Amino acid sequence: MSKNTFYITTPIYYPSAKLHIGNAYSTVLADTAARYKKLRGIDTFFLTGSDEHGQKIQRAAEAAGVTPKEYVDRIVEGEGGFKNLWDALMIDYDKFIRTTDDYHVKAVQKLFQIIYEKGDIYKASYSGHYCTSCETFFTDLQLVDGDHCPDCGKKTEILSEESYFFKMSNYQDALLDYIDKHPSFIMPESRRNEMINFIKGGLEDLCISRSTFNWGIPVPVNEDHVIYVWFDALSNYITALGWGSDDDSLYQKYWPANVHLVGKDIARFHAIIWPTILLAADIPLPEQIYGHGWVLSDGGKMSKSKGNVVDPFKLIDKYGVDAVRYYLLREIPMGQDGNYTEELFITRYNNDLANDYGNLVSRTISMIDKYCGGVIPAPEQTEYIDDGLMQMAVTAAAQVAVELDKLNFPAALTRIFTLIGRANKYIDETTPWILAKDDKYHARLMTVLYNLAEVVRISTILLKPFMPALAPRVSEQLGVDLTTATWADATTWAMIPAGTKVHKGEALFPRIDPASILLPEKEEPSVSFKDEISYDDFAKLDIRVATVKDCKPVAKADKLLEFTLDIAGVERTVVSGIRLFYKEPADLIGKKLVVLANLAPKKIRGIKSHGMILTAATDDDSVLEALQVASAEIPSGSVVC
Ligand code: MSP
Repeated sequence: MSKNTFYITTPIYYPSAKLHIGNAYSTVLADTAARYKKLRGIDTFFLTGSDEHGQKIQRAAEAAGVTPKEYVDRIVEGEGGFKNLWDALMIDYDKFIRTTDDYHVKAVQKLFQIIYEKGDIYKASYSGHYCTSCETFFTDLQLVDGDHCPDCGKKTEILSEESYFFKMSNYQDALLDYIDKHPSFIMPESRRNEMINFIKGGLEDLCISRSTFNWGIPVPVNEDHVIYVWFDALSNYITALGWGSDDDSLYQKYWPANVHLVGKDIARFHAIIWPTILLAADIPLPEQIYGHGWVLSDGGKMSKSKGNVVDPFKLIDKYGVDAVRYYLLREIPMGQDGNYTEELFITRYNNDLANDYGNLVSRTISMIDKYCGGVIPAPEQTEYIDDGLMQMAVTAAAQVAVELDKLNFPAALTRIFTLIGRANKYIDETTPWILAKDDKYHARLMTVLYNLAEVVRISTILLKPFMPALAPRVSEQLGVDLTTATWADATTWAMIPAGTKVHKGEALFPRIDPASILLPEKEEPSVSFKDEISYDDFAKLDIRVATVKDCKPVAKADKLLEFTLDIAGVERTVVSGIRLFYKEPADLIGKKLVVLANLAPKKIRGIKSHGMILTAATDDDSVLEALQVASAEIPSGSVVC
């Protein structure tokens, strides 16, 4: 069933999301993969776009005093908006879909209708915890601390409405079976296991309509409802190709997608909801969902409140588009989280781009300029040492391809830089400046310089998908047009005609002095504190030291622990959503925790929980710790204030 086309997608972005180098990451990866395939002559379609419906957008538009359409238009098409950013990052997409596009709206309604007519969509009353920010309902089991969203940590709202439901549960076994038979369907492996466990935990039917707001695609069988934003958004991958329209030739040609590249936070929507929708509609499943990791800023999640959001426009202005792309592609381990700091950025830039690659190009051109009057010479006298370099150069493309076909961008770049490193070493070994001193070495010198020009040509071709602004600049200096060079040209030695004139130019990546550049551009960190309260308000809180007598998991709730606490001889039961952070709950027995003792009791999973264990957590809740009192002299029951 393998086809000879390549179809790759990025997630479609929420206009309400502030674009930073973190979320630009998905798109830079996909663009690089698409450019690589195109360079290899493969018929490629690269899709990106914007996800424009939903309550969050409606509210943001209301807050801005404009209509939702005006709001999204400005962010997508306007100055400094999505399309501008993709241009600045040289994202060469074949189509930009907007979920407000007419053809998309019609096709989503058609998809809904097909599944409805099949009997897999039904109407029922629904009441549940809804996170407006994530546009998702969560079950009790998923909530943190009773009513907080497990994904973004914000408080959920109870939402009650008549809704349409998709019988996702019907497809649980079919999906597990599919995943089992297609080992590379969900990548990387860690993500795959995570998804399998989630599915095995049981798929519930999915609420796929809303009637509490109207900024969405109307449900075709009931105009009082709009279609759930994720059903709407996921469908973009087929509607963009014309599925469900009069002309579905692109769909016929490119579907199923080769890969949906998405961040790990939305892997679940892609690996579970999307395939079950497709199964219900009898549409073939995509070949792969790749859930990449996160770009962290100074080790933490980028967030406006932390002030660590890195503005891609500023970074591009300062260091150039190639350097920004290079950093993201090289520094973030594929499939895992990686870090961004300006220090790391400069180190990478100076070591790899300024030193290794930049120096190879400038030394080569300078020497041809100085020793050969600016004309690339004919190779005249080959020696044994040349073979290794040539061999390595013409086989690099195949090795890079192996990594790129697995979407392993850092490994692919490492391969290219091994060749670049080898060429720099070749300069040191062959010492052209010594050869130049004596005429009897002339033939040898010509060969060495020719070989170096060839490695510059080949490595630059291989770098084209990663750094699209590079080839035009190097072409000018080398005197060879690399902008039209293909991948195959990188596998052939000696393509530069002798006699080609080089043009010594400016350094491609001038070294950055770390001292001169660090910090001034960093935004001041800011914290948004809650509204002030009076001392009397604070005095109402009865916070105490409590000794843990017992601590055990709550059955069938993977986030909850049940504590039996002693507070100055009074026994209390408290349920707390911190299980994920305490793999061995029993280790907490005997510890003295800090507890809000006068919180009104509440039933959680049938257990009466009386009090709240105080914790400290990172913004993204990836690390959490219950506060503890260490001193043996402070007994249980002591007041905390
Ligand atoms: N609209 C949905 C996607 C629907 S796809 C049918 C959405 N949009 S988003 O704007 O919130 O996110 C877009 C992409 O950016 C996602 O792949 C998300 O994982 C990614 N990232 C957001 N912040 C990120 C980092 N800090 N690092 C890496 N990727 C991150 O989700």
